[in-house]
Amino acid sequence: MSHVKSIGILTSGGDAPGMNAAIRAVTRAGIYAGLKVFGIYRGYRGLIYDEIEEFSTQNVSNIIQRGGTILKTARCKEFQTPEGRQCAYDVLRRHGIDALVVIGGDGSLTGARIFANEFQLPIVGLPGTIDNDLYGTDTTIGYDTALNTIMECVDKIRDTATSHERLFFIEVMGRDAGFLALNGAIASGAEAAIIPEISTQVDQLAELIKHGFRKSKNSSIVLVAESPITGGAMGLAQRVEEEYPGYDVRVSILGHLQRGGSPTAHDRILASRMGSAAIDAILDDQRNVMIGIKNDEIVYVPFTKAIKNDKPINQELMSTLRRLSI
Ligand code: F6P
Repeated sequence: MSHVKSIGILTSGGDAPGMNAAIRAVTRAGIYAGLKVFGIYRGYRGLIYDEIEEFSTQNVSNIIQRGGTILKTARCKEFQTPEGRQCAYDVLRRHGIDALVVIGGDGSLTGARIFANEFQLPIVGLPGTIDNDLYGTDTTIGYDTALNTIMECVDKIRDTATSHERLFFIEVMGRDAGFLALNGAIASGAEAAIIPEISTQVDQLAELIKHGFRKSKNSSIVLVAESPITGGAMGLAQRVEEEYPGYDVRVSILGHLQRGGSPTAHDRILASRMGSAAIDAILDDQRNVMIGIKNDEIVYVPFTKAIKNDKPINQELMSTLRRLSI
């Protein structure tokens, strides 16, 4: 029998579509199991400054379809200090909160791991990030929605690129990972993806584009993952323009619109399953684990594994893109 009677839930770091569905699932599954559930606003900052409210099932009504996070989110510097974490722990004690569910990406789960170890606090993480860069899970909450947003945007840019017979470099998010760029490129029929995990030379890229135009393609689209390693879309476009002045080049940076919007059915279901599994994990006295999904089965991934390992890119995807973009 778990000693946990009361849990807190927070979202931290960059928001991701499906976070609300996860908050709803944790709250409802928690209340269903007889737990008290507290919503903590503005991530770790809300823990330190005591922005906490007890939730009923009503607090999470009508939110499954909404993007963003009703709990708000923040990137909190104070929580990176031992004093900040002590303050956060004292606030938790005052509310009688015995365990936490943290929804966020790499940075948020790193904070969770340190906090859990320092105070022997049961913490369960849910992978909430559009970047899909957490190890041990096939996918993360928000990734599918962001991917669909990218696909829709690239489809639109394709129309104008084709009319003007232009070469477009489109920059997408992903922090240090290329999942959005690579799968976004496959889904939108782009000519290439430049990702930090695989090095591409400018002349190789130009050759591919030249080959496309020679075969009477009307436009070329290259998806570029934001990263100092790729140089971003602007940097790459400049290099191609300098070396191949014949191309009519344009750049489009999709930016934060990738983080918004109503979550897809896939993300809503994933968030609901993961949120529900987080309560099972807490009741099962699991601690310091992230809920993941592997081959459609829920798995528990120790924080140390989820955060420390680089999630590999599936090489088959890269070769599929190359073969289909001729
Ligand atoms: O981690 C999610 C993410 O959207 C990254 O893809 C991106 O690099 C970063 O957050 C942007 O952060 P901010 O919203 O703080 O500018």
